[in-house]
Amino acid sequence: MRPIVQYGIGCWLGCLPMLIGLSAFAAELTPQEERGKTIYLEGTSPAGNEITAVIGDAGAEVPAAVMPCGSCHGPDGRGRPEGGISPSDLTWPALTKPYGIEHPSGRQHPPYDLRMLKRAITMGTDPAGNSLHVAMPRYRLTHQDAEDLVAYVQRLGTDLDPGLSLDSITLATQLPREGRFAALGTAIEAVLQAYFDDVNEQGGIYSRRINLRVIAAPDAADDRADMLRGQLETEEIFALVGSFLPGAEEQVADLVEELRTPLVGPFTQDPQLGWPLNPYVFYLLPGLEDLGRAMVSYAAERSDNRTAEGGSNRTAADIVDAEPRFEATAQAIVARANELDWPMGSSGELERIELAELGTTPDRVFLLASGEQQAAFFQRAAAAGWYPQVFLPGSLFGNQTFDAPAGFDDRIFLAFPTLPSNQAAASAREYRDLATRFSLPAKHVTAQIATLASAHVLIEALKRAGRELSRSRLIEVLEGFSEFDNGLTPLVTYGPNRRVGVQGAYLIALNVSDHSLVPASGWVKSR
Ligand code: HEC
Repeated sequence: MRPIVQYGIGCWLGCLPMLIGLSAFAAELTPQEERGKTIYLEGTSPAGNEITAVIGDAGAEVPAAVMPCGSCHGPDGRGRPEGGISPSDLTWPALTKPYGIEHPSGRQHPPYDLRMLKRAITMGTDPAGNSLHVAMPRYRLTHQDAEDLVAYVQRLGTDLDPGLSLDSITLATQLPREGRFAALGTAIEAVLQAYFDDVNEQGGIYSRRINLRVIAAPDAADDRADMLRGQLETEEIFALVGSFLPGAEEQVADLVEELRTPLVGPFTQDPQLGWPLNPYVFYLLPGLEDLGRAMVSYAAERSDNRTAEGGSNRTAADIVDAEPRFEATAQAIVARANELDWPMGSSGELERIELAELGTTPDRVFLLASGEQQAAFFQRAAAAGWYPQVFLPGSLFGNQTFDAPAGFDDRIFLAFPTLPSNQAAASAREYRDLATRFSLPAKHVTAQIATLASAHVLIEALKRAGRELSRSRLIEVLEGFSEFDNGLTPLVTYGPNRRVGVQGAYLIALNVSDHSLVPASGWVKSR
C-alpha cells in the first residue's frame, strides 16, 4: 500500500504546478491586465499618463517607452542575461518562491507580494530592503498605472499570445482572391490547407491543431494592409505564413511589426531588410539584391575572368535601366565587388551605365532591366557586334532573354535561388503525394512548392518551440535555425541579424540556339 500512496502524493505535488499553470493559461487577460501589458511591453500608459524611467546613480530621466520592462526582462518575463547583467525572472512563481530567493549575486530576500513589487519598480529595492543593481531603472508612474502593471506581472509567462489555445494554433495567410493573381492565390491556399490537414492528421503540434484562416489581398497596397490590420486586430491569429506581398512589402512588414505578428516565408522578391531590422518577418528566398551579389561572386570566380595573379583581366559594367526598383540591387552589386576586392572595369571600378546612355563596351555586364528594356539592350549590343558576358537575376528572365541574338550563346548567366534538383526525392514525393490526395491545382506548381517549403520551416519552428509556445519563443527558435534542410530549397539559416533563410544562388547558362538552360555553377553564396 505505502508505495502507492507515496506515488499518489508525488504525482499530486508534481502535477500541481502544471494544473495551476493550465488554469491560468486558459484564461484571457482582463482589461486591467491588458493595460498592464502595454506598460510592460511598450512603456506607455493606456490612460495617457506620463511614465518616466530614472536610470543609474546619477538619476537621468528618460521616457519609459525608451526602456520598457520587456526590453530587459523579455516579453515572457523570464529575463535573458545580456552584456554581464542578469535581469531577474519576473514570472510570478519565481518572484514568490515560498522560502525566498537567493540570487547568483548573493542577494537574498523573502518572497514578493504586490506591495513589495510596486516598491521594487518605483524605489529599486527588494523585499529585504536591498538596493537592486543599478541596471534596473526606477519608474515614476501613477497609482493606477502601477496597479495595472503589477496585475500584468502576475500573469507573465502564462499569458497566451493571440491565436493560441491549449488545443489549437491559428495561422493565417493573405492571398489574392480576384484579379490576375486569383489562380495563384487559390493554388497557394490549397497547398497550405493540404499540408496543415496532414500535420493535424498526425496529431498536430504538441496536440494543438493548426487552423488556417485566409485573408483576402486586394490589389492596392494600402487596401491590403488595411484588410490585414482589420483581421489581425479582431481575429485571434498567432502568425502569418506564405502571404502574397508584391507591391505591399513595406506596408505589410511595418504592420506585422506594429502588431507583433510573426510572418514566415512571404511570397515576394523584395525582402524589406533596411535598418533597424524588422524582427517579425522571416523571408525564405533571397530578393534581387542577394541575387545581384551572388552574380558578382560567381563572375569573380570564373577562371576566364581572372589573370594568373588572380586579378581581373576584363572590364565590367553594371547596366541598369531607369526603374527605381533596381537601384538598391545596383548598389549591392558594387558593394559585393568591393568586398571581394575584385577590380572591375579599366578604371578598376565598376562602371555604372544607364541603359539609355550605353556607349562603351565592357566585357562583362550585370544587367538590371526587364521586358522591352532588356530586349533593346540585346539588340543594340548585337548591332554593334558586341557580345559581353551578361549576368542577370533569374527573376528578370523572360521571353526577351530567350530571344537574345545567337552571338550571346552561352554568354548569358541567370541567377536562381533554387533549382528543381533541390527538391530532394523524398520531399518531391511528399508534394506529389499531397497533390494527389488533396487534388491540388496543376497550376503555379513552383509557387506551391515554395509555399510548402515556407510552411515546413514554420512547422519545424513550432515543433522546436515546444509546448510553451509564444510569438517571442517562435522568433527566438527561428533565429536559431542553422542549415535547416526543408527538402525543397537550399539549406535555411536565420540569425539575430539575418532574416533571409537562403542567401545565394545557382548560376544557369542560357543556350540561346536551342533554348536550353544548363547549370553553370554549384551553390554560390552571396555573403
Ligand atoms: C535596462 C534593463 C531593465 C529594465 C528596462 C527593467 N529592468 Fe527590472 N531589473 C533589471 C535588472 C538587471 C534586474 C536585476 C537587479 C539585481 O539583480 O539586483 C532587475 C530586477 C527587477 C526586479 C527585482 C526582482 C528581484 O530579483 O528581486 C523587479 C521586480 C523588476 N526588475 C521589475 C521590472 C519592471 C516591472 C520593469 C518595467 C517597469 C523593469 N523591471 C524594467 C533590469 C531592467
